[in-house]
Amino acid sequence: MPAGRIMRTLIAAGIGLGIAGAALAQEVVKIGMILPMTGPFASTGRQIEANAKLYMAQHGATVAGKKLELIVKDDAGVPDNTKRIAQELIVNDKVAFLAGFGLTPLALATAPLATEAKVPMVVMAAATSVITEKSPYIVRTGFTLPQVTAPIADWAAKNGIKKVVTLVSDYGPGIDAEAAFKTRFTAAGGQVVEELRVPLRNPDFAPFLQRVRDAKPDAVFVFVPSGVGAAFMKQFTERGLDKSGIRLIGTGDVTDDDILNDMGDVALGVVTSFHYSANHNSAVNKAYVADYKKANPTMRPNFHGVGGYDGMQLIYKALEATKGSTNGDALVAAMKGMAWESPRGPITIDPQLRETTQNVYIRKVERVGGELYNVEFETIPAVKDPTKAPK
Ligand code: PHB
Repeated sequence: MPAGRIMRTLIAAGIGLGIAGAALAQEVVKIGMILPMTGPFASTGRQIEANAKLYMAQHGATVAGKKLELIVKDDAGVPDNTKRIAQELIVNDKVAFLAGFGLTPLALATAPLATEAKVPMVVMAAATSVITEKSPYIVRTGFTLPQVTAPIADWAAKNGIKKVVTLVSDYGPGIDAEAAFKTRFTAAGGQVVEELRVPLRNPDFAPFLQRVRDAKPDAVFVFVPSGVGAAFMKQFTERGLDKSGIRLIGTGDVTDDDILNDMGDVALGVVTSFHYSANHNSAVNKAYVADYKKANPTMRPNFHGVGGYDGMQLIYKALEATKGSTNGDALVAAMKGMAWESPRGPITIDPQLRETTQNVYIRKVERVGGELYNVEFETIPAVKDPTKAPK
């Protein structure tokens, strides 16, 4: 063979190998999951990580011929960390998905990076309504505060509660909950007599609970983020509010399944509205809770965990739909309109809003088999965020 031809053959083979090498390298699809694994919101990180791992163990780590790799990073609940980690995951690890986001400020800090890099950002926990509007690459598998608040306002108005004080954590989701409750409750003829906002970090509820007592409402409506409910309930009892005749109502964040069982009898009878209870009566949920407990014997899944489980489910389904393509626009397009039965009940990813349409349940804390659970007794089907309903 003439030298020139040998050379050309060798070069062609080399290019061929190079392409094969690149193709092999693309076989791994990385999911960059950023969670508060330490600090006051570590329970959210622990729940979502456990659920992501459970979903992968149940369904295998290969989707559409690609191998999935989950990278979990701790932001300790600090927005600057989340942003820096997201940047590293995009630039160094070349992740195909960003996922997690345990608190609203963490999701907001990352949204511009998802847009710039065109990487789908699956928000599993953060629940302020506006988040999905901050990037077209955000898809949310959790919930929004207005979505779960409106039903308890309706329930309160229908159940003899006329005067309410609202008490919320002073940041995005709390302000959403406060506004949604007031709008809905006053439309139904109720009256919000005082609106109290408690700092998010190191909250001391005592002075606020005193003001609740002094206002003598029929009920206090509460939003505190997951993990904070135990401290709230403790102070609620210490201030004697449990014996004051003032009812406690709220979104289900306060009676979070992760901590509910340790709250004791003070939690009994608390009525909340929410999209997930570990006690949800369906075959899908029973199988899910059993598998979860087998993998995590000391834990009970909570709503953030289910947001994580369904977030992984969404990632798998989207990759199947794109036949393994990791093009961000194709993945987000595939996610829009997807529907499945979650442990929480049927859910759909609303194609316009890029978040879940789901049942919201009214629940009461009861003792079931020696443990405290949120027992669902009313279902409001297929609820969307009321602040985003088509005008
Ligand atoms: C949020 O920061 O968006 C958030 C965190 C915990 C919750 C709800 C909302 O339980």
